[in-house]
Amino acid sequence: MNDGTGRAVPVGPMPRPLRIAVLVSGTGTNLQALIEACRSREISGEIVLVVSNVPEAFALERARRAGIPAAVMDQHAYPSRAAFEEALAGALRAERVGLVCLAGFLRILSPAFVSAFPGRIMNIHPALLPAFGGKGMYGDRVHQAVLASGARVTGCTVHFVTEVPDGGPIIAQAVVPVEDDDTAATLTARVRHEETRLYPLAVRLFAEGRLRVEGNRVRILPAAPRAAGTVLPGPAAAPADRS
Ligand code: GRF
Repeated sequence: MNDGTGRAVPVGPMPRPLRIAVLVSGTGTNLQALIEACRSREISGEIVLVVSNVPEAFALERARRAGIPAAVMDQHAYPSRAAFEEALAGALRAERVGLVCLAGFLRILSPAFVSAFPGRIMNIHPALLPAFGGKGMYGDRVHQAVLASGARVTGCTVHFVTEVPDGGPIIAQAVVPVEDDDTAATLTARVRHEETRLYPLAVRLFAEGRLRVEGNRVRILPAAPRAAGTVLPGPAAAPADRS
């Protein structure tokens, strides 16, 4: 991110392994991908907390099955948005979280919350930002809008979260085709498949201290040379070429 002077400031690396929190509201497909990437050591990190603002979210069940502490924090149980966010920030700080991953978290976080974790909140969006993003663009609405536009390609984007909804620096993108007979459901499935590949990759790069934010762009730094005898984690696809 930048320090207010416009200078580039590196984000990460954090103490290893990186302590990750995942915020969810729904089925948790992306959470599952992150769980598996941490388990296989593709990501040098540990998911230490899952928080859902929806009590019945299946993502909570995924966390429980993986033995990860899971909490429900329903904003309706708090007197104000500020109180909800204070409680959420408190839970994250208590776990000494170094990265907050929004994974289908259907709640826009206030600028105050975002600035409490500068450069340490990521989100995944089911389209190629900056297209088909912003307030009100979530779930099926995104894919319906893509279909209505006649676009031939769509995809997904992992980005840092800033105070602008879906407007933060883009870390990685993956492209999928839009077929003539696609529906929102078929497009969701095709995009979701790419999401589960892309999010672990972005988190892996963060955990390795390889993301540097320069203005609104993210530079991916080369991997550090490996010490002799180091075992490589599992294969990871390259981030989508955005040139
Ligand atoms: C994904 O499409 C993600 O891009 C969006 O919300 C959806 C979450 O799905 N932000 P899941 O809960 O990970 O299955």
